[in-house]
Amino acid sequence: SWTYVATALAAYLIGSIPFGYLIYYALTKEDVRKVGSGNIGATNVGRLLGFRFFVLVFALDVLKGLLPTLLLPMMFARLGWDVPTDLPVAAALGAILGHNFPVFLGFHGGKGVATSLGALLALLPGCCGVAAVAFFAVFAVSRYVSLSSIAGGLAFGASYFWWTSDPWAPSHRALSALVAAVVVLLIARHRKNVGRLLAGTENRVNFRRPKAD
Ligand code: G3P
Repeated sequence: SWTYVATALAAYLIGSIPFGYLIYYALTKEDVRKVGSGNIGATNVGRLLGFRFFVLVFALDVLKGLLPTLLLPMMFARLGWDVPTDLPVAAALGAILGHNFPVFLGFHGGKGVATSLGALLALLPGCCGVAAVAFFAVFAVSRYVSLSSIAGGLAFGASYFWWTSDPWAPSHRALSALVAAVVVLLIARHRKNVGRLLAGTENRVNFRRPKAD
């Protein structure tokens, strides 16, 4: 069980690296949490700096979910530690909590879309594919990243529980709990977006073009 604590903690610290905040600060010397939607994620950084920066922050935030989930259990196995089968679940949860509640930003972080995708790609790539289809379908129609993310999260959870015949059997329990927690957390982190969607004031995507020289 020390292995669980060490894995979750290491993943949490990696997930806490606020790439969106750091890249925005490096370029503008301003706090991204005070501009646009106030979020540290790729959508807000792209909204402010252009699509290239969406891609950059998105890729880094995906990696900080994917790499710990894939590599920490492998590393601990190399060290000769006893690696329980649910260890990647602990790593995934740690990384996502790190992004949403980062120790380096006073626990005020992002919404966990990219980092959850990265972590879950390592565990449930098929469900991630379903989530991506739902995301792009809603995005094509609405142009709301937040609504598309919520649709992706719901499709992810629905496809997992649809395809898993006995999700609460001991062998699946940890993964099922992770899936449920990730979907609930993702929606909860979008509550301000939901408020704006209902009020009709949510931003549609409109990535500013990078300045032409
Ligand atoms: O990943 C967050 C996205 O779903 C919404 O971002 O900046 O529009 O609140 P934002």
